[in-house]
Amino acid sequence: MSIGRRQFLLFLGTSLGVGASNSILKTPLLSPGIAANKVTNWHFTPLKLPLPLSIDKLSSSEQIQAYKEYKVEDDLILPDGYTYDVIAKWGDRVGDSRFGYNNDYISFLETGKDTGYLTVNFEYISGRTWAETYEAVIGKQLPFEAVKPHLDRDGTIKAYTLPDGDTLKGQIKEISREGLIDQGVGIIAIKRNLQGVWERTYSGVDRRITGISGLEDGKYLNSTGPAVAVFTKTNKKGYDDSLGSKIIGTFQNCAGGTTPWGTVLTAEENFQDQVSDPVLSDGSSLHPDTTPFVMDKKDINGRGNVFGLAPNKYGWMVEIDPGNPEDYGTKHTWLGRFRHEAVTFFIQENQPMAVYSGCDRRGGHIYKFVSENSVKNRNDKNNSRLFTKGMLYGAKFNADKTGSWIALNPDTPVNPVLPSQIAGIGVVALPKSDRSADDGKLLLLGEDGDVMTYKSAYRTLGDIYEGNTVQKQGAILIDAHYAANAAGVTCTGRPEDAEIGPDNRIYITFTSGTADEEGGADKNIFRGPSGETPYEFGWIIAIEEDDLNPASMTFKWEIVATGGEPLDGGMGFANPDNLAFDGDGNLWMVNDISTANLNKALPSRTEDDKPVGQKDTLGVFGNNAAWVLPRGEKKAYPFAIGPMDTELTGLWFTADQKTLFMSVQHPGEVGGTRKDMGSESRRFSIYTTAGEEFSQVRFVPIGSNWPGKEANQPPRPAVVAIRHLS
Ligand code: FEO
Ligand code: CA
Ligand code: CA
Repeated sequence: MSIGRRQFLLFLGTSLGVGASNSILKTPLLSPGIAANKVTNWHFTPLKLPLPLSIDKLSSSEQIQAYKEYKVEDDLILPDGYTYDVIAKWGDRVGDSRFGYNNDYISFLETGKDTGYLTVNFEYISGRTWAETYEAVIGKQLPFEAVKPHLDRDGTIKAYTLPDGDTLKGQIKEISREGLIDQGVGIIAIKRNLQGVWERTYSGVDRRITGISGLEDGKYLNSTGPAVAVFTKTNKKGYDDSLGSKIIGTFQNCAGGTTPWGTVLTAEENFQDQVSDPVLSDGSSLHPDTTPFVMDKKDINGRGNVFGLAPNKYGWMVEIDPGNPEDYGTKHTWLGRFRHEAVTFFIQENQPMAVYSGCDRRGGHIYKFVSENSVKNRNDKNNSRLFTKGMLYGAKFNADKTGSWIALNPDTPVNPVLPSQIAGIGVVALPKSDRSADDGKLLLLGEDGDVMTYKSAYRTLGDIYEGNTVQKQGAILIDAHYAANAAGVTCTGRPEDAEIGPDNRIYITFTSGTADEEGGADKNIFRGPSGETPYEFGWIIAIEEDDLNPASMTFKWEIVATGGEPLDGGMGFANPDNLAFDGDGNLWMVNDISTANLNKALPSRTEDDKPVGQKDTLGVFGNNAAWVLPRGEKKAYPFAIGPMDTELTGLWFTADQKTLFMSVQHPGEVGGTRKDMGSESRRFSIYTTAGEEFSQVRFVPIGSNWPGKEANQPPRPAVVAIRHLS
């Protein structure tokens, strides 16, 4: 009898008393074969997800018995001995505003033993569910029904050019304004009471920086770096918002990072949902109507349109000092404009500072900013100045596990990524030098020969962009993704979070290698366990700078974890996203299977005698979860399971390691408010870890009532504190 089997018996016999019963109501949410995992002081018995994991240490027949039924819960499920407290949820008061929607990155700046400022990102609104629950949560009505008849067939309307004073324009403004208020960043002061529970203190520092900060209150955001030369130039080829270096608001704030000197960097990710992504060859913006207001079955987006927001001012990293109530943020343009997911810092005293960030799009790149000046004292607030002078580089990964950094400046040779290197349909989007007026169109090239013709037309990036040297540098930073494609920076598998490890390596999650019509990952680098390309389920990759020097121009890389089903060589999770290291150097990770694929039925692995696609198998993984990868182990243990339709985000440990702050994002995003505790049963083809196929009946709640958990309550994104029950 193996140890695993013995633990299984002990577990059933002592902890749960489930015995031989297979009643669905008694299906344990704890992983069958595992005793408490020794992870720092967070010992826990791993949770049971709907698919067998190799950590279960069960035989195939035992796995079939243990997993033939599974009940999904609409709650944040934690191992025995742990609990969570809701700290703040959508709609709660924050300063003169409210706690926003879809909380993501969390940073906790400790100001005393049991006090501090929690900075929280509000990434986006889940349009349909937001509209369905807005009145119940916020207590106001919005004119959705009045606007609908005026929309085009695809749900859009060009709102900017509607006449001022027009009733419809006013109604679109009202909806757009409320949506933008629910995005951005929030800062709330909290303290830990004698029972160990964190609660809000409603201090004078509490404030919101929203998608419209500055528009009505003059609290504009600032900007630094070369793109300011584009914002302020008078003879723009494209749209001018007349605000110069001042910026209205921040939105799509996904992950982020915290500097050693106590400021927070918040990442503007999918800005293209609200304003246009392409720009003109001088870096100036397309007309606001290029990305119109849209309200369809799923989304309410294009909310920058009616306000005439300048698109080139979004897609940046924003630095905020949580403790300074006058600070509404600064966009540091040297860090590039792209779909920023996260950021992490490699800081050694008396060396330049390196800042790493990924662009979460299919085929997006990894970037590193290196400051011109060196760090003297890592805790000095003046280090913020380091963001204002330096160079942005893109990562070129080689198949032999080495890599190099390519500078993105006007002198960089044009040497584009080739379509034959790219997974999926094999296409590369390249910038043209003749983008003028409202034509921001890119070249979408699918043949290597066409790319070689492109290459022969331009010698350096400076040939593609317009302006004086600083303005050209600004335009390259504004158009960073496409400039990086032209420079030959590696296309990757949707980079999400980046965290520096205790070993000074940069750990980056790549959530998915699936391609789309605009790009995909490099086939030589982003491969599944058996060499599959494209590969949907994701990776965690560690980058080690040569000589552990932040300013090094070469590095080594290795895959430290791969997603996927155990049978196929995966660790049992799919689509890794945020990362955090605990005090003992264990890596915590949350995964983000897209909401529509969560628990999607999979009655068979074939359709019309062909294997179903990788994305169509994502339902087997169940709800999104939080995992621990213990230091030195190539295994992942489930620690938390999210409520219905959610993604867990924003992992942050307090310095004493007693609390784990976490965001619970987009409950009910697909199913809306759960009605009368409704659920349905679905069938899944599941494989044991040995490859035996069996059928599972899974009971799946439809929609969510989290965190209220009472029947028919509206789902609300919320931030929780997780702690031991003791
Ligand atoms: Fe907002 Fe890439 O997750
Ligand atoms: Ca994310
Ligand atoms: Ca995500």
